[in-house]
Amino acid sequence: MRVDIISIFPEYFAPLDVSLIGKARQRGLLDVRLHQLRDWTHDVHRTVDDTPYGGGPGMVMKPEPWSEAIDAVAGSAPEPPRLVVPTPSGRPFTQEVALAYAAEPWLLFAPARYEGIDSRVMAEYGDRLRLDEVSIGDYVLAGGEAAVLVMVEAVARLLPGVLGNAGSVTDDSFAPGAMAGLLEGPVYTKPPVWRGHEVPPILLSGNHGAIARWRRDQALRRTVANRPELAARLDPGTLDKRDRQV
Ligand code: ADE
Repeated sequence: MRVDIISIFPEYFAPLDVSLIGKARQRGLLDVRLHQLRDWTHDVHRTVDDTPYGGGPGMVMKPEPWSEAIDAVAGSAPEPPRLVVPTPSGRPFTQEVALAYAAEPWLLFAPARYEGIDSRVMAEYGDRLRLDEVSIGDYVLAGGEAAVLVMVEAVARLLPGVLGNAGSVTDDSFAPGAMAGLLEGPVYTKPPVWRGHEVPPILLSGNHGAIARWRRDQALRRTVANRPELAARLDPGTLDKRDRQV
């Protein structure tokens, strides 16, 4: 997969050299290209922002540098990238969106600073580049860069070959499948007793059916406790009698 990121802080993306993503890049599974938005300005101050029409606080990112940058990066490619603009007013970024992005060959991220990008840029590229305005959560960041890091990590780990164990992806909280709609339960490793805390004995029993049942009970309990709104949305048709007791 190819990922392009246009930002006034390309150095913000240094973490993409590290760990899972760093390795995926070294192995050629992920091709990340960073671009400095200011390279598409034409004044000595390399200006990317201006005051908002209609008044109000803060500054708005000018349309010209963005359009020049996006045109230069997306070019006239026959299969243009999907354009992702992070913004707290976008639609929620979920595991479902991450899976959809992981199936794309090319993503172009346009993280904004200040009060956002002049809306005409979104009008210009909406259809042509299948523009998505997405929010990573109900809070306001200082800019879209951190949101891009979050999205690239969520997408990259879904790419074939990136995770050592493909099962890790299917077991995830929010993954489709047998445990769909449930948060992942607690996990344990050796030693069997640590500071007086025991590993739940059932996990040492070797009884795979009982272990699967226990894990499902734990997942249900955690979902009810931490995310009651998710628990309320569980399809009753997927719940058995034992589930309902939890
Ligand atoms: N930019 C600022 N806050 C954001 C958020 N919550 N999600 C995506 N982009 C943002």
